[in-house]
Amino acid sequence: MVESTPEQSNTHSSPPAEADLSPAPSPTADSAVGSAGSESSYGASLLSEVKNYKYENGRRYHSYREGQYVLPNDEMEQDREDLLHHIRSLLFQGRLYHAPLKKDISAAFDIGTGTGIWAMDFADEFPSTKVIGTDLSPIQPVWIPPNIEFFVDDAESDWTFKKGSFDFVRACDLGGAIADWAKLLQQTYEHLKPGGWIELLDFAMDLHSENGSPEQQAPHAMEFFRHLKEASSKFNRPMDVAGNHINRLKTAGFIDVEERIYRFPDNPWPTDPILREAGRYNQEATSMGLDSYGTALFSRVLGWNQAEITVFLAAVRKEIQDVRFHLYVNAHVVWGRRPEATGL
Ligand SMILES: C[S@@+](CC[C@H](N)C(=O)[O-])C[C@H]1O[C@@H](n2cnc3c(N)ncnc32)[C@H](O)[C@@H]1O
Repeated sequence: MVESTPEQSNTHSSPPAEADLSPAPSPTADSAVGSAGSESSYGASLLSEVKNYKYENGRRYHSYREGQYVLPNDEMEQDREDLLHHIRSLLFQGRLYHAPLKKDISAAFDIGTGTGIWAMDFADEFPSTKVIGTDLSPIQPVWIPPNIEFFVDDAESDWTFKKGSFDFVRACDLGGAIADWAKLLQQTYEHLKPGGWIELLDFAMDLHSENGSPEQQAPHAMEFFRHLKEASSKFNRPMDVAGNHINRLKTAGFIDVEERIYRFPDNPWPTDPILREAGRYNQEATSMGLDSYGTALFSRVLGWNQAEITVFLAAVRKEIQDVRFHLYVNAHVVWGRRPEATGL
């Protein structure tokens, strides 16, 4: 039997085939092959494969589908994700979703769940809903609500969940992770119940300023975003996807599509107390994010060495932390629903 670290022992190494998604009495009750507790050699080899993390330039990366995703999965990255969850909570006034969900939904799916922090909050808010979270990395915690289950899975592969089984599917911050958004949305459409909702959240990869030209105030930061767009496109997993999510949902057949755009201040420049607090946290999250986003992409795709990356990111960091400049980025939240009466 494979030893599993505390942070991984509730994560299954493969999602169940044609899963029964009804709420299960225990997190492992309805799992299929390769669960964390399984002694099958298939489960064991898969589990060791997903935990055989890769190290590069001082950061730790996923091993399942190695090299496919360019952000790290180490503690620093997990802290950044959790910090962003807190900032979203502040700016979204505590709401976990924007789609008009009913309280009695039976199944929800968080694609690329990361640390699972949103999925766990959602599971608490919807105690009779079965919540599924998947990720390339088994970095979700042990102590989780009884109505949630995590799996290691590649969302770009064919899903093994039962079609038409989810009331809500959410994907947050997957810009840079997905090569084929049309396929992801098609699978989402097919796996939603008729009338079920999808919600996408992503940052647009552009810097704005409320009190001047961002090009003059933060030239390195502007360059950072240009490099990110160029490198992620070359890598065939573009980061800058947020502005086109509306069209993607409509093209995929979703209806009642709506969008809300939130400003995320880059440092505590706002006078409004909530925005100011969000800016204070976001200054830290953005500082961590520079390394997360830049390190692998700029070295693997643009061929920069580590010293070049460090010097460049230091210049970017200095600019975005300068409270004289009222810099912000936009987060796009887009939601829509599968029509009621159509075939799959
Ligand atoms: C920036 S993090 C966001 C995590 C979480 N959604 C949140 O908002 O806190 C993106 C996550 O997507 C996961 N991911 C990337 N590509 C994936 C894929 N093809 N299938 C499943 N998860 C993936 C990464 O491992 C990472 O945990």
